[in-house]
Amino acid sequence: MEEQAAKIRIEQLREILRENSRRYYVDNAPTMSDYEFDQLMHELERLEAEFPQFDSPDSPTRRVGSDLEAPVGANAESQARQGFVQRPHRYPMLSLGNTYSISEIEEFVARAEKTLENVRFSYSCELKFDGTAICLTYRNGKLVQALTRGDGIQGDDVTENVRRIASIPQQLHGDFPEEFEIRGEILMPYEAFDALNREREAQEEAPFANPRNAASGSLKLIDPEEVAHRGLICTLYHVPAESVSFASHAEALDAAARWGLPVSAERRLCHDIAEIKDYIDHWDSARKFLPYATDGIVIKINELACQRALGYTAKSPRWAVAYKFKAEQALTELLSINYQVGRTGAVTPVANLSPVQLSGTLVKRATLNNADQMALLDIRVGDWVYVEKGGEIIPKITGIDPAHRAKDAQPPVFPSVCPDCGTPLVKAEAEAKWFCPNQDGCPMQIKGRLLHFVSRKAMDILAGDMTVDQFYTAGLARTPADLYDISKYQLLSLEGWQDKSADRFLTSLEASKQVPFERVLFALGIRYVGETTAKGIARHFGDIDTLATATQEQLLEIDDVGEVIARSVCDYFAKPEHREQIARLRAHGLRFDGAGQDVAVSEALAGKTIVISGNFSISRERMKDLIVAHGGKAGSSVSGATAFLLAGTKPGPEKLKKCEKLGIPVVSEEEFRAMLPETDPASAGLPLSGEDNPRFAETPSRGNPLPAGESDSKETIEELTLF
Ligand code: IVH
Repeated sequence: MEEQAAKIRIEQLREILRENSRRYYVDNAPTMSDYEFDQLMHELERLEAEFPQFDSPDSPTRRVGSDLEAPVGANAESQARQGFVQRPHRYPMLSLGNTYSISEIEEFVARAEKTLENVRFSYSCELKFDGTAICLTYRNGKLVQALTRGDGIQGDDVTENVRRIASIPQQLHGDFPEEFEIRGEILMPYEAFDALNREREAQEEAPFANPRNAASGSLKLIDPEEVAHRGLICTLYHVPAESVSFASHAEALDAAARWGLPVSAERRLCHDIAEIKDYIDHWDSARKFLPYATDGIVIKINELACQRALGYTAKSPRWAVAYKFKAEQALTELLSINYQVGRTGAVTPVANLSPVQLSGTLVKRATLNNADQMALLDIRVGDWVYVEKGGEIIPKITGIDPAHRAKDAQPPVFPSVCPDCGTPLVKAEAEAKWFCPNQDGCPMQIKGRLLHFVSRKAMDILAGDMTVDQFYTAGLARTPADLYDISKYQLLSLEGWQDKSADRFLTSLEASKQVPFERVLFALGIRYVGETTAKGIARHFGDIDTLATATQEQLLEIDDVGEVIARSVCDYFAKPEHREQIARLRAHGLRFDGAGQDVAVSEALAGKTIVISGNFSISRERMKDLIVAHGGKAGSSVSGATAFLLAGTKPGPEKLKKCEKLGIPVVSEEEFRAMLPETDPASAGLPLSGEDNPRFAETPSRGNPLPAGESDSKETIEELTLF
């Protein structure tokens, strides 16, 4: 690869990996499979090794993924509101190098044997538990501290929550050292996971994607009593060598088990690659019968003196490696291929499949990513294909079964022109994707940008793909600013719109004018500017005028902003049509400043944990923002610590029952609004209050004022255009 192309790809990979690391560790809602993530990380490692001139200490290859919340501009106040204090780790909490290939395990063993020539040593083979890491400190046999991994240097103090996990002893017995640390994983067994998701669905809350996310989300609950009911378990697998004086890892864990700590019984000491392979083969199938999730095997040099001799890289020990299992697969028929054009113009091939059951869901569509990927797979319509699904939303095709191929099957022809507007597609050298360059005229791109603008994480306006399509077809909206010009009269002239749905839409449009600058910036859809980057940029510059005149050098001062992003931002503001768009949006009253100022509207709800249930005049997400803006905390389920249940229409029956049992008051939206100071509606982004306010129902997909059937599917496909 040429130097310039490598530079661009390196930056792209860093951005993708950072964004997905945040989704994985902070949001507990990954959009990419672990396998895909690991492959991109390996690609970045290879490129950085080949082009050391682009090395950066900030690269995700050198950093441990962080579970700490919003590092950008976070201050003590917002931290306190999240409820966890961050504390330093005594010894950094590192990650593990990983591979999916047995030959790399062979190389690891060969390397260890070479470095430790003439030394007798063994390997501790263990399960790789798929939960969330924890670091426990015991002093005089008592549990005194529990920290999450955080960024590896400091973690969230979750001691009180960890005290509610039954398998973690508060008091040890036997000959434990005066003070030591021990690390391991908090897991949610499948049974507890299924029960939790059933309960969440009954209470109209979004289910967790997998047990790992559920464990991690549960560990960060505000209310320790709630943690006690989540069925979490713990397994410990690492005693930092500095912390105790044992000769080997196995001895340290055996001792920990004697002191009463939960240590995995599935460990085995192996002496050569053959024994290691046996262990891997056994657990590759046996793990399916375990009551909790595992995603691989960890192989560690057992003797601590040998570990010391091998040492560490910045991110992981050289004395250990993880062999990861591939995600579950299903085999099904490829019926046809669609080519979808995203808001950036990227064309993504999407496979329509004969429906097949995979990891508990019925899969009908899968992404093929790009033309290169299609060529690599050598795929044909009618082929039997392997579909895989990790923690992400859209499954992908990972291979084909050549035995099933029809003799006359022809390779698909990737379109040379945009499937929507017919413009010839283009491809930049460093890009894997083909693009439709007709930014201003391609209907899919125009609609895609509108859809992004209204999406929940952006402006949270009540419009889905069908609404956007209607607006576009009727000539009512081509740009975000057009949305604010739509009148009720115009809405009522559209098919299916009535007084109520028009009011709901206009109300949400009005409320969007209070959306903070950082989200408005994200909503503009500047290429490569995801949620995190938008936050960083908004907080750095404070307002749009300063940002619009910023140079690339100034943008590069921001952590995590590389040249690709800096150039993209500058290019965006250089275009007169974008400046005009911003001027129009500003005239409509959208917020283009005030980033970084923590807006505490009042302290009316200070010290109160409030649980919400049912539908309100605004989305539940915004209702939670409102609680926080008034100093309260939004709890996820009812417990003794709940101040009151804020109930909209159709509250969850389970929650109501629990309130009755615990004597917790149930408060209506109207009563709730009465608790807030008069000034509230405008400052907190609420349009109206009281009974005359049009109500909308928030379905799990999103609240749509219009005919059912609209979804966020475009948003999800759009995310794929990054790759
Ligand atoms: S040892 C210094 N052993 O995997 C190395 N980690 O991807 C300390 N994990 O951060 C880690 N099972 O959260 C170790 N048997 C095991 C493990 C394990 C799961 C997790 C751990 C680690 C991550 C690395």
